[in-house]
Amino acid sequence: MIKKGIILAGGTGSRMSPITKAINKQLLPLYDKPLFFYPLSVLMLAKIKDILIIVNKGQVEQFRKILPDGKNLGIKITYAEQEKPKGLPDAFIVGEKFIGEDSVALILGDNFFFGQSLTKKLIESTKLSKGAKIFLYPVKNPSLYGVASTNSKKKIINIVEKPKKTKSNLAITGLYFFDNKVIKFSKSLRTSKRKEIEIVDLLNKYKNEKQLSAEIIGRGGAWLDTGSIKDFNNTSNFVAAIEDRQGLKIGCIEEIAFNNEWIKKKDVIKAIKFYGNCEYSKYLNSIIN
Ligand code: G1P
Repeated sequence: MIKKGIILAGGTGSRMSPITKAINKQLLPLYDKPLFFYPLSVLMLAKIKDILIIVNKGQVEQFRKILPDGKNLGIKITYAEQEKPKGLPDAFIVGEKFIGEDSVALILGDNFFFGQSLTKKLIESTKLSKGAKIFLYPVKNPSLYGVASTNSKKKIINIVEKPKKTKSNLAITGLYFFDNKVIKFSKSLRTSKRKEIEIVDLLNKYKNEKQLSAEIIGRGGAWLDTGSIKDFNNTSNFVAAIEDRQGLKIGCIEEIAFNNEWIKKKDVIKAIKFYGNCEYSKYLNSIIN
């Protein structure tokens, strides 16, 4: 069972500059809430309650102002700082102590997931006892991402980071489930040309041991990008469109904690007081009444 999760919320956010010179990208508002609420929701929907958030040096306090330690959500949040971005697998080196002897999920702090069958897939994935599992999503522009090629039996036959040309349209999303070998494997990785350790090299280690499985998020689900200003805005508009239509919020962490019975009505009232008079508070009020 996977009971621990890491949110990698570092990075320079260079494509979102100038604002990211002053503030961590994951704190920017994706429509009506900070971007990191969305990946946090994904872990919470997977019933993961022990979560490490890795941020850039000097940024922990920014995050703590919104989410001090997770008690308000009935979960445990720990923060760690990354000296500088050294590649995604560095999360398992920074998080070594946090992971201990356990298996762990990793989600990138800027990844947005939405879809009806998602929760079921997430909970299923936490049952992983050995190896690694990734989530794939069909995209028009696979060259911007890690890409997996699969055979007719949906087995992964090849994994490449941002290939110039590829026949596969299956991007590797920023959501991964790993057994404890991930620490050892991450430490053994060599830095690439761009002077980082690479997630695809880590995944290939699992693949070489025939221990990499994949789940495809079909076209009815959404995995959206928030990398550039345009993508960020499109994803923001997606959230706005769904929320305005349904009157229900995506990525409302208190609602998920409440539905999971991790917190009570009084805790939601506390959150309303903390956030003050805003749309988000009004929504929280509606879920307890
Ligand atoms: C990273 C990974 C890539 C993955 C992507 C998902 O790329 O290296 O394999 O497809 O995240 O968001 P980055 O966005 O850091 O360039």
